[in-house]
Amino acid sequence: MEETKGKVFIFDTTLRDGEQSPGASMNPDEKLLVARQLEKMGVDIIEAGFPVASDGDFASVQRIAREIRGCQIAALARANAADIKRAWEAISGAAMPRIHTFLSSSDIHLKYQLRKTRAEVLKEAVAAVKCACGYTGNVEFSPMDATRTDRDYLCEVVEAVIAAGATTINIADTVGYAIPEEFGELIATLFARVPNIRQAVVSVHCHNDLGLATANTLAAVQNGARQVECTINGIGERAGNCAMEEVVMAIKTRKDLFGFHTGIKSEYIHQASRLLTQITGIAVQPNKAIVGANAFAHESGIHQDGMIKEKTTYEIMTPQSVGISDTQIVMGKHSGRHAIANRLQEMGYELGEEEINSIFVRFKELADIKKEVFDEDIEAILYEESSRQEEKYRFLYLNVVSGNAAVPTATMQMEVDGQMVQEAGFGVGPVDATFAAIRKITRTDYPLLKYAVAAMTGGTDAQGEATVQLKFNGRSAVGWGAHPDILVASAKAYINALNRLEWLGKNPRQVKVI
Ligand code: KIV
Ligand code: ZN
Repeated sequence: MEETKGKVFIFDTTLRDGEQSPGASMNPDEKLLVARQLEKMGVDIIEAGFPVASDGDFASVQRIAREIRGCQIAALARANAADIKRAWEAISGAAMPRIHTFLSSSDIHLKYQLRKTRAEVLKEAVAAVKCACGYTGNVEFSPMDATRTDRDYLCEVVEAVIAAGATTINIADTVGYAIPEEFGELIATLFARVPNIRQAVVSVHCHNDLGLATANTLAAVQNGARQVECTINGIGERAGNCAMEEVVMAIKTRKDLFGFHTGIKSEYIHQASRLLTQITGIAVQPNKAIVGANAFAHESGIHQDGMIKEKTTYEIMTPQSVGISDTQIVMGKHSGRHAIANRLQEMGYELGEEEINSIFVRFKELADIKKEVFDEDIEAILYEESSRQEEKYRFLYLNVVSGNAAVPTATMQMEVDGQMVQEAGFGVGPVDATFAAIRKITRTDYPLLKYAVAAMTGGTDAQGEATVQLKFNGRSAVGWGAHPDILVASAKAYINALNRLEWLGKNPRQVKVI
């Protein structure tokens, strides 16, 4: 039996608020991959998307609702009957569906955005919750911009929506304005002043504009909140949301202080972080807490001395507790199919025979050009294999001639709508020439917003991972690619970004959350 006493419920919104990060759009296959990872980690509620936003969003929420059986699946809806109906249609097939409806409550939003009075908004909030309750008993209501809302009015709204049937009340710090002490006090005020508050779970949703999302979330937990909304790597609108890895590890590491637990299997945190980076192309900064490359690196002599003598001198949690293995098991060209299957299982991937076979073929190709194959390399193959979908453009071949005594030239072969196309491109350097060849083949010339390359592991034969961000028609997409040859990785990333732009063009969003 799961222990719910003292439990803080984890509501993950990577697929909804997280996807609102600039360039972070994910296709339905990728969203399902992320949802599976969240389920494996023990997330309680997955906010799968905003079904009314587009037909693509609807289909992807519906698919997640049908396939993920171990978590509650929430769909977001504005506070009107049409949005709520659409949200319900998307999640009705879920094992545990939840409708999440929201409406702004601050005077700033009421005056300039909604152009409605407080009385009108109160009435609409209650009507929306009643409407949602007509579909399910699991209804969450968020007063948007709650932290800049008049307190008396906020208490009034919260009391009214609970009376109307809301089972979760989510206090949103929409613009990341709150300061921890103040936010904790706001939650305490709700408990003190809203008579029916204990009939609902109090949740918080903190943005990171002042870098305080995790601190605010923890202050709320200390004052009675029992659901926290968060995203992997803290991605989300503007400066992002509270990072799941931070809040989970703070609650776990400081159990002495909080006295709570979450249901998250923290040893999957690193894997989830990597998966999201591969899918979105958004890398985490090296000094990012828990999942940054330097999070467990000890540089100073004094620290290293302490670590050798006794790890707890400078380590408050172990790398293993977040899924970074101490003994890196390295595979190579002599590793057989059985060894790969075992390693995948140890890494927490439950795969069928066919999937293992295709990963093994890719593994052998990689092991032929790279002596040591690390977990990160296997994950990159896994991601590329499992996110194969209908793609307009495919990479086939690249040959680059470069150097200070030659005009850098790239000869490239690609598949475009199933047809093989070959072109040569010239540039100031090999990357420039490669991208020129791709532009010729695809007859595109989209502005390049970002291009970055990093080594995935140590060693000069490490795979390079490249990210490319392109812009077209007001939309931007980030592509990712990995290969021991950084030019091939860069070409793959460029092609991946083009395919994403194609997908976005076919699946435009009709509405935005805020
Ligand atoms: O930040 C916000 O207010 C939101 C709501 C939809 C909960 O994302
Ligand atoms: Zn938000």
